[in-house]
Amino acid sequence: MGRKLLIDYGNPDREALLEAARSIATGGIVVFPTETVYGIGANAYDDAACSRIFSIKGRPQDNPLIVHVSSMEMLGEVALIDRKWIQRLSRFWPGPLTVVARSTGKVSTVARTGLPTVAVRFPSSPVARALIELAGVPIAAPSANLSTRPSITDPVHALEEFSERVEYVIVSGKSPLGIESTVIDLTSPTIRLLRAGSTPVEEIEKVFGPVEVTDTARGVATEERPVSPGAKYLHYSPETPLYLVTEDQMMSLGQNPGFSDYVFICSAQVGEAITNRKIVLGSESDLSAVASRLFSALRDLDSMNARGGFIHLFPEHGIGLAVGNRIRKASRPPTGEILAALDRP
Ligand code: TXA
Ligand code: MG
Repeated sequence: MGRKLLIDYGNPDREALLEAARSIATGGIVVFPTETVYGIGANAYDDAACSRIFSIKGRPQDNPLIVHVSSMEMLGEVALIDRKWIQRLSRFWPGPLTVVARSTGKVSTVARTGLPTVAVRFPSSPVARALIELAGVPIAAPSANLSTRPSITDPVHALEEFSERVEYVIVSGKSPLGIESTVIDLTSPTIRLLRAGSTPVEEIEKVFGPVEVTDTARGVATEERPVSPGAKYLHYSPETPLYLVTEDQMMSLGQNPGFSDYVFICSAQVGEAITNRKIVLGSESDLSAVASRLFSALRDLDSMNARGGFIHLFPEHGIGLAVGNRIRKASRPPTGEILAALDRP
């Protein structure tokens, strides 16, 4: 059903994009690249189109969508943001930062799930920006993945999952950053981190002052009521069970022939000690590389016919905070047979 458009990421052909932009303007759904992950987008002013996104993804009805704009004028149409914040935001925009602010009321209540607030971001991807400009409306777009599945950073996965479900899939190479935008809440007295992402909290604090980082944002399970609706759902899960272990545990299991039907997702350093099948994400000291490969590794795991997978945490500074959040949410603690193998000397 859907048409595939091949577009150059850095220098998009506007003529070719126009077809997809017209589709958005008339109620269509388009999967498109951003600098973080692929998004599945609709006209943010169109209730019916926005509700199609929820049904295509199987997304819970109380988890609002991010609205993408291509200019500060368009930002003014959708959100009411204090002048003092606007200046600071321009240090990060265009780029992978999303802010929750008061809605002007123009964005579809379906996209906002009835909230008085709206989450907005001004992406740096030239393709995304051109698409929004040509559509002439802001684009409401969550990550392009079926609900609970890992986000998509490789267009091959975007085509597999969405070709039959949407009007257009824009194919434009692998997502450069690979982890979603950082979401902050500007409506509370202290700025709160709602989701760790590609913009490091340390950078945000340099410009905005102290940011409150909750356990929810780290992906650590808590009883606390999540502040961002998306935080309470199971996320990013491969179909193959993925177990979170320490680096030492991984090195031990990775050499154990009893675990040759498992896949070990690891750093280059840990990988050196692993003789079983492995996917190396990158050096522990190159967290950007690790971030850019994580989601496609989770999807690759599912195509490897493995009994299970193992993953370990990485240093949690800079983009590493978001990497840790995604790894915790995608994985589970090791169980019986694995623990028994670790207990054996
Ligand atoms: O990088 C990204 O942000 C990608 C690309 C496509 O732009 N988009 C993305 O969207 O990750 P999604 O839907 O997967 O995540 C949106 C997050 C969810 O956790 C949602 O709960 C939160 O933003 N959110 C949206 N509107 C909100 C609001 N009004 N208040 C609090 N949280 C909100
Ligand atoms: Mg998502």
